[in-house]
Amino acid sequence: MKRSADVSEIYIGVMSGTSLDGIDCVAIDFSTGHPAILGQHSSALPNQLKATLAALCQPGADEIERLGTADVELGRLIAKNCLKLTEKLHLSSQQICAIGSHGQTIRHRPDQENPFSLQIGNANIIADLTGITTITDFRMADIASGGQGAPLVPAFHQSVFAHDTKYRAIINFGGISNISLLSPQSLEPKQTRGYDIGPANTLMDQWIQQHRNKPYDQNGDWARSGKVIPELLETLLRHEFFKREGPKSTGRELFNLNWLNPFIKKAYPSEDVQRTLLELTAVSVKNCVEKELARLAFDETLYICGGGTFNGFLLTRLKTLLPSFIIEKTDAISLPCQLVEASAFAWLAKETMAGQPGNQPLVTGATRPRVLGAIYSA
Ligand SMILES: Nc1ncnc2c1ncn2[C@@H]1O[C@H](COP(=O)(O)OP(=O)(O)O)[C@@H](O)[C@H]1O
Ligand SMILES: [Mg+2]
Repeated sequence: MKRSADVSEIYIGVMSGTSLDGIDCVAIDFSTGHPAILGQHSSALPNQLKATLAALCQPGADEIERLGTADVELGRLIAKNCLKLTEKLHLSSQQICAIGSHGQTIRHRPDQENPFSLQIGNANIIADLTGITTITDFRMADIASGGQGAPLVPAFHQSVFAHDTKYRAIINFGGISNISLLSPQSLEPKQTRGYDIGPANTLMDQWIQQHRNKPYDQNGDWARSGKVIPELLETLLRHEFFKREGPKSTGRELFNLNWLNPFIKKAYPSEDVQRTLLELTAVSVKNCVEKELARLAFDETLYICGGGTFNGFLLTRLKTLLPSFIIEKTDAISLPCQLVEASAFAWLAKETMAGQPGNQPLVTGATRPRVLGAIYSA
């Protein structure tokens, strides 16, 4: 289709992931074929809303009322962040094609008899307050077609990070870690794969919040002060999720303090538990990389993204556990590591508006490609 020069190709992607750390908004211009970041705006979740959302991630009383209220509050906050971004960039609402807003996952249950994944952050409100068409609910079409609904980022990774001739692995360290295994650009058809590996930051964040009243372990310094508890690490690694083959996806429903606490003995110093949780992240990623390498000769440079890449001690452990790999942030291949997830939802919004499928059946296990999300007109 021929496009006139004044047709905008600018999309806003919004992500608030499992970590519940904040809202990341990024504006991307796709007009050149490669995503060009125009600007970004991130803000932390207010403590009260963070607590409300965290509580909604577990079953509890009066859920519908709490869900409805939080949905509206988060929708308003997302809209406010998008407007801050457009103001910063001196862009009008009319210059933005659409907002792709992932929303906050409060329940992800892809493996039950009636599978579902529920994100909140009301899109009617976002569209109304911003005057920009908004797309949400990206996961359910894939789940309706038998998929996990997650991860959805590998398709985007394939489109921006693929090497010309080599297979390449990308690992994201959000609340949960996930891997994308990208086919070479030159290969047709592409065989993109990917799945969730396990907890990356979520258990570390929850533990330090409980014991030090901090949202996360800056640079991994508290973990660094402790010692690995081998029996605890071994026990945690026995979780069936690590053994399962992909497609697979997970979240705070599986990896939370209710799961962890029964394994914690009184004699364990809390910094040793933090150290062990960091080791759990590092070892589960190492095991995954080694398993995949036995199947697929991917490049020796592993590219990493997500907030966990700012945890210096986690990176030190990864480099030690995977000595034959060069570990680099995705900044080296065009996208700042903290913006990759939000960028993916700008891209997914673009695919949806173009009527193109956004899922990868090999990744999610869906029976077919699906156009993702619901469109809320401005
Ligand atoms: N300087 C840092 N040191 C250690 N960990 C960090 C740092 N910055 C961010 N993180 C970790 O990254 C998490 C946020 O990562 P993010 O990619 O936004 O995850 P999500 O997609 O789950 O929101 C924080 O909760 C924290 O655990
Ligand atoms: Mg985040």
